This record gives sequence, structure tokens and C-alpha cells, in this order.
Amino acid sequence: MVETVQWTEDGVVMIDQTRLPREEVYVTCRDYREVAEAIRSMVVRGAPAIGVSAAMGVALGVLKASEEDLDGQVEVICETLAATRPTAVNLFWAIDRMKRLYASLRHLPLSEIRERMVKEAQQIKQEDIAINQAIGRFGADLVPDGKTVLTHCNAGALATAGYGTALGVIRAAVAAGKRIDVFADETRPFLQGARLTAWELQQDGIPTTLITDNMAGHFLKSGRIGCVVVGADRIAANGDVANKVGTYSVAVLAKENNVPFYVAAPISTLDMTLESGDQIPIEQRSPSEVTHVFGVEVAPPGISVENPAFDVTPSRYVTAIITERGVARPPYTESLRKLVSMPASALP
Ligand code: MRU
Repeated sequence: MVETVQWTEDGVVMIDQTRLPREEVYVTCRDYREVAEAIRSMVVRGAPAIGVSAAMGVALGVLKASEEDLDGQVEVICETLAATRPTAVNLFWAIDRMKRLYASLRHLPLSEIRERMVKEAQQIKQEDIAINQAIGRFGADLVPDGKTVLTHCNAGALATAGYGTALGVIRAAVAAGKRIDVFADETRPFLQGARLTAWELQQDGIPTTLITDNMAGHFLKSGRIGCVVVGADRIAANGDVANKVGTYSVAVLAKENNVPFYVAAPISTLDMTLESGDQIPIEQRSPSEVTHVFGVEVAPPGISVENPAFDVTPSRYVTAIITERGVARPPYTESLRKLVSMPASALP
């Protein structure tokens, strides 16, 4: 399977997701600022993958930092990485985890701090793969045999450290012997579905059909889709889900047509400090992503454009939230709180 983000002796190596599927090019970030730029420009994207990348960015920053005013340097490194993308909470979760570790190590010699910070970032990556596999195991049971699964955006190996959340559920269902195929929304404007999900699933040999976003309703009505599975960028305490723009429309259409709508996400995507999805910050991206397709202008110059990268699906449209600790169902205020406070010994 593709290596999304890797720690190497030369720096943090990422597959350039802006160039897939036409070219498989790897970029090496040799400095934390380059990691921040890779996250901002979506060389790496997807909530868990940007969390892992940010953790590696902090480690890289500390590795290159000098002895003098290390606290101040770590602060700047973390602030720079945190200022890249506002919606996916995994970014802030990973930076906080690295910050907390640093605070517990700061009395130690710099060489030891560096070693422990690098290890922690690698650990976050390994944990993410195991978490996705656990999500897959819980989710596979929910996928109906012999039907089509609809997904939006890319919540696969490319969006995580490996295996994927929504695509992890699909992979686990296929591994369990379920005969399923996938419909992938192309996901305008950045085309994560067409460029990344279609590529990833094709590589795995999972039968996949690409559709444009506006075809989802047509197919949800047809009876052919057994369930929808998507990832998430941030989930509020009441179960409202921020995910790639267009997810909300799919969720409403799924409910209208009695198709279960599942969200697959790690516990690190839960933001229990937010009561509802109304408080989730929504990233606004460049108008050129809408007016241009691969550098070709497809709209009249000067046209007014909106480009929110995410939308919020109210929890009433979400049939269940699949995490590495189990499946949460409504009412989410209770079920999510239970999952978050689960003792570590109860984890799979
Ligand atoms: O803008 P992106 O490509 O980073 O958005 C990605 C998504 O919306 C994914 O569905 C989400 O991060 C979950 S990835 C496991």
C-alpha cells in the first residue's frame, strides 16, 4: 500500500497528492516550514494524515532547533504548523500531543529531547494505522453484502498514515469476503474522489465506479446503494460532522432514500469542547480552485466565487459513527462521551 508520510534520515517524505494520479512523485520536507507548506498546499491532506505530518513537522523542527531559547522555538514551530488548515482537529490534537511531550522532557539534554520527539511522531503514525484497522473491523459488519458503497472525498490510505477510515471500512468488508463495489463521488473542486479514491481503490482491485457529485442523488434513489461511508475532519460533542464540502447533501439524500449514512473516524477527530457543529471553523480556500481545472479557466474572469472546503452534516442524518473504540449511535451526546471516557484496558 502507498506510503503517505514517512520519517526518513533526509526529512519527512510525502507522496505529492496534488499530482496524483498522473504522477507518483515524492517530496522531501527538510524543515518544519516545508512541512507546514505541504499541509497548506495539500501535498498531504486528509485529517489523520495532516495530524501525522504535523507531529513529524514538530519533531523535525526540534531536530533542527538550537539550544538557545528552545521553548520559544518550539512555540513558533507549533504555531506555524497549527496555522496551516483550520478545520481538521487532528492537526491540533497531534501538535498538542507533541507539545505536552516536550513540556515533560524540557529539563533533559537536547539530544534526548530530539530522540524522544522523533520517536513520538513515528509512534503517532504507527498508532494511526492500527486505529484505522480497528475502525475497519467495527465498520465491516455494517456494510451490506452484495451492494454498492457510496463514498465522498478521500478517506483512504492517502488521507491517513495507511489503510484509511472510510476506505478502511470498505477494505475490511472486502477482506471479510463481502461482495461489494464502490461508487466514488469525484468531489469538486479538488477532485479527491476522482484523483485519489479512484486511484487507491483501483490499485487494490476493489471494483470502483466514478460519478460526479451531482449524480449521488440519482443513485441513492435507485436502490443500488447499500450504505454511504465517509470520513470526518471534526465531530462535535452532539455528533454533528464536518467533512469535505458536499457531504451534507449526500447525507440528506441518503436519509430521504432510507440509505444508512456512516461516518468512520478516529477518536482524535472528536472535539468534545464544541457542543455543536455550528462552532466548527470552516476553511475557505482560493477561488481559483473553483474557476480553474488543472490550470484551465472554466469560468468568466471576475466572477464572484465561494469556496468553503468543508460543510457540517447535522447528527440527525448520521446513522452511526464508527471509531476504533466501537460504534456510536444516537443520541451522540451520550454515546460519544462514553467512547471518549472508555478506559484504555477496554480498547481492542
Ligand atoms: O481537504 P481535504 O482533502 O484534507 O479533506 C479531506 C476530507 O474531508 C476527508 O474526508 C477527511 O479528512 C477524513 S480523512 C480520513
